[in-house]
Amino acid sequence: MQGKINCLLKYKGLGEPLDIDMYMANDGYKGLKTAVDNMSKDDILDEVDKAVLLGRGGAAYPAGRKWKQLMAINTNPKYIVCNADEGEPGTFKDRDLIKYCPYGIIEGMTIAGYVFDSPRGFIYIRGEYRTLQQEFQKALDTAKAKGLLGKNILGKEGFDFDITIVSGAGAYVCGENSALLNSIEGKPGRPRVKPPHLAEVGLYSLPTLVNNVESFSCIPVIMRMGGDAFREMGTETSGGTKLITICGHAKNKGVYEVGLGTSLKDILYSEEYGGGTASGMPIKFVHFGGQSGPIGFPEQFDIPYDYDSMKKAGLAIGSGAIVVMDESVSLVEYCMKVTEFFVHESCGKCTPCRIGTERMLEIFRKLIDRKAVPEDIDKLKELGDMIRLTAACGLGQANNVALNNALAHSRYEFESCCKRIETWN
Ligand SMILES: Cc1cc2nc3c(=O)[nH]c(=O)nc-3n(C[C@H](O)[C@H](O)[C@H](O)COP(=O)(O)O)c2cc1C
Ligand code: SF4
Repeated sequence: MQGKINCLLKYKGLGEPLDIDMYMANDGYKGLKTAVDNMSKDDILDEVDKAVLLGRGGAAYPAGRKWKQLMAINTNPKYIVCNADEGEPGTFKDRDLIKYCPYGIIEGMTIAGYVFDSPRGFIYIRGEYRTLQQEFQKALDTAKAKGLLGKNILGKEGFDFDITIVSGAGAYVCGENSALLNSIEGKPGRPRVKPPHLAEVGLYSLPTLVNNVESFSCIPVIMRMGGDAFREMGTETSGGTKLITICGHAKNKGVYEVGLGTSLKDILYSEEYGGGTASGMPIKFVHFGGQSGPIGFPEQFDIPYDYDSMKKAGLAIGSGAIVVMDESVSLVEYCMKVTEFFVHESCGKCTPCRIGTERMLEIFRKLIDRKAVPEDIDKLKELGDMIRLTAACGLGQANNVALNNALAHSRYEFESCCKRIETWN
């Protein structure tokens, strides 16, 4: 199925988001009840697997595989962690889910709690979402008062699960799953060296499941409709729907839910979605999936928006961010802003990421000041590649994804910023 689908966002506008009766009157908690009453834990894992739910936090790791890997680990207890850090620029879809569909997230985490016999879950919510944290706490309290969190959930003896909110404090890197766990533990929010993987040594050194807000929100839907039906809202290899955030110079900015496999051209140009640019100028380029994602150019847009097709075209879905830039934007200045972001957000643990991004920024400044020579562009690329190869985490590894796309497509734009060397008298 393709096009707009109102599945995860169906509660938006349906009523008061914190009204649990409204949620329950509209399929809410049917997923948990189905899982607990009618399915074995292996059945639940099989349905998540069949759904082909690829992690919605950005890395697209299959949820079914992650859940089965955690199940295979015998150490207990296990922790359930929801990543609501949403620090990726251009991404604001988890905000909508927390605001309009809090019980969907709680239900998804509770199903995970049931599957893994976990006593406790944590949701790490971006510090800037302070008001949403307070609203979410009310949803947790209401669910608890209804017997849907706490002890003997659904009246089932021994099914105990509770959720605690932890606030982020503004660091992008704390969205990286191991940095996030360190931050929950009260340590500096720096990524851990992996392996060991978090499924084995996670929160407080215990096995831990970390999934994104949108991934958890899909779980009750999968339990309700079955893994096959969920997958069919998308494509064979990219199951379900995806929340996308269209922003930048797009005419119709906002959060949209689309079946995976929807035409990317439609998403960018049709009035139903982005509608081209607000200025009426042509789209010059689009930055997909956040600062760590690739930049794409109009000749690449005639493809379906699903994980496979985007990857084949050299693009990516990532977090679902779609930052549209019109012809008024300098690609060089844009890439410089991306590097500024990485300089600011590097946690400093690895020297190449900490220092190298600064050196890259210096070259960008030379380019902007028309003081660079073409060799500086090669140096820029070399530095980015070196940081990528030596980085301990995904932040450094993705520092130059956008830059490399930009250079491969439009090196002339970088060269045109170099100082003029007069070759005649
Ligand atoms: C620098 C960095 C920032 C990240 N920020 C987020 C984030 O804000 N939210 C998120 O869900 N995942 C984020 N991730 C991805 C997480 O590490 C992890 O893959 C994800 O939470 C797993 O959930 P999923 O499998 O459901 O996508 C980030 C990764 C990196 C490297
Ligand atoms: S790559 Fe950068 S952000 Fe990641 S651990 Fe190293 S210094 Fe920190």
